[in-house]
Amino acid sequence: MILTLFFLTLLTSSNALPSTLSPREICTPASFSNPSKDDTPAILSALQKCGNGGRILLPKGTTYTIRSPIDLSACQACDFQINGLLGVSTDWNFWSGQHAVFTIISGQAAVIRSDGNTGIINANSYGVTTSYKEPSKTPKLFSITNSSNIHFSGLKLKNVYGTAFEVTAKTTGMYFYDMDIGTEDSTAPPTDGFQISDAKHVYINNNTIRADGACVMLLPNASNVQVEDTTCITSGSTNLGPSGIEFQLVIGTGLSYVRNILVKNFRAIGTMNVVALWTGQETREVHTIEIANATFDNVTMEGPVKQAVYLEQCRPGWCDYKARLNVTGTSFRKFKGAALKGSEIKCLNKEDVCGFSEEGWNVKSGG
Ligand SMILES: *[C@@H]1O[C@H](CO)[C@@H](O)[C@H](O)[C@H]1NC(C)=O
Ligand SMILES: *[C@@H]1O[C@H](CO)[C@@H](O)[C@H](O)[C@H]1NC(C)=O
Ligand SMILES: *[C@@H]1O[C@H](CO)[C@@H](O)[C@H](O)[C@H]1NC(C)=O
Ligand SMILES: *[C@@H]1O[C@H](CO)[C@@H](O)[C@H](O)[C@H]1NC(C)=O
Ligand SMILES: *[C@@H]1O[C@H](CO)[C@@H](O)[C@H](O)[C@H]1NC(C)=O
Ligand SMILES: *[C@@H]1O[C@H](CO)[C@@H](O)[C@H](O)[C@H]1NC(C)=O
Repeated sequence: MILTLFFLTLLTSSNALPSTLSPREICTPASFSNPSKDDTPAILSALQKCGNGGRILLPKGTTYTIRSPIDLSACQACDFQINGLLGVSTDWNFWSGQHAVFTIISGQAAVIRSDGNTGIINANSYGVTTSYKEPSKTPKLFSITNSSNIHFSGLKLKNVYGTAFEVTAKTTGMYFYDMDIGTEDSTAPPTDGFQISDAKHVYINNNTIRADGACVMLLPNASNVQVEDTTCITSGSTNLGPSGIEFQLVIGTGLSYVRNILVKNFRAIGTMNVVALWTGQETREVHTIEIANATFDNVTMEGPVKQAVYLEQCRPGWCDYKARLNVTGTSFRKFKGAALKGSEIKCLNKEDVCGFSEEGWNVKSGG
């Protein structure tokens, strides 16, 4: 429905042109159907030809091999349909030097979707064979920067090592619908489903996210992020994580904020901290961490989870505490289920503004 409206908008705006409406141009890139050959050049030339207002079609039943990065930025007011399978090559030596497999830089009004939920992107863990993760070397599957009005829907992402989606650098208007991230038959779940920083208006709706780090990570200056009707399934058991919605506000100096967050109808499955807030152990300069207007409404926990709400701050006297929490309008409503540990949502320092509240709390803790 959302997508239909979006295309109507596109059609309406092209109606403004005096000429008669030309049909959407369709490009179907050829595939070598050979894992040792790179289909990226064919996809890039389809983007050059049909990316401006047209459609790129990767048909059902066709397999494409991605041996080099794909810049989707040329998809402007374009419909990029993945109905077949995109397989990322298992060449860690190559991928470990790349920032991302797919990038969108200053993109506008792109739709990347599967028509009929048949599209699969298999990252094949970029060929990593050990369980050792090198976060600084692991590419993102998608990196979206300085872009607006980008829609993703109906895709399954498998064997994503590292982060599935990075959304940053002033991006505004990101829509993720009906996505299955870290699909069940994956051998490796992603570390993080979404990493959102310096971005606003990000909508994650009806997604299933499997992760062993965080399903959704909110980094400095993320605002107006809504996660609705979404299931988070975590595995792995590090001391710190995993987590459902994680606020990681330890980076930088000065002010970092997370504002206007809505998490609604959220299912959390696995031994995780459902909501985790980290303020970091040390910062050299005074750092204000602002969390304003964050609502968690109707959170169902299955597992038991580790803890419903986990807040970690540096204890006064234990470390050089220079982070100041400024939390206003942050409420946890209708949490239900079981947790191994109780939640004590209290700030530790007298300088902190600690505006957390709970309503309809129905969490059984202690096992
Ligand atoms: C961001 O994108 C806009 C177009 O939407 C462009 O004019 C601007 O130069 C881009 N900024 C950067 C830093 O890339
Ligand atoms: C949610 O997404 C799945 C695909 O992951 C789809 O089959 C289902 O129809 C969607 N549900 C709604 C209510 O849109
Ligand atoms: C966040 O926003 C504040 C205030 O606008 C700015 O000073 C800070 O540099 C931003 N941080 C990041 C990581 O974008
Ligand atoms: C609070 O956040 C929600 C969710 O993003 C938003 O819809 C609402 O407008 C925000 N309220 C204010 C007062 O900014
Ligand atoms: C609460 O969320 C669950 C899914 O997590 C959903 O099935 C249920 O209908 C929601 N309840 C309300 C009152 O919206
Ligand atoms: C705390 O955040 C609120 C809401 O954004 C803001 O109005 C207030 O000025 C901040 N207070 C401090 C002490 O930073």
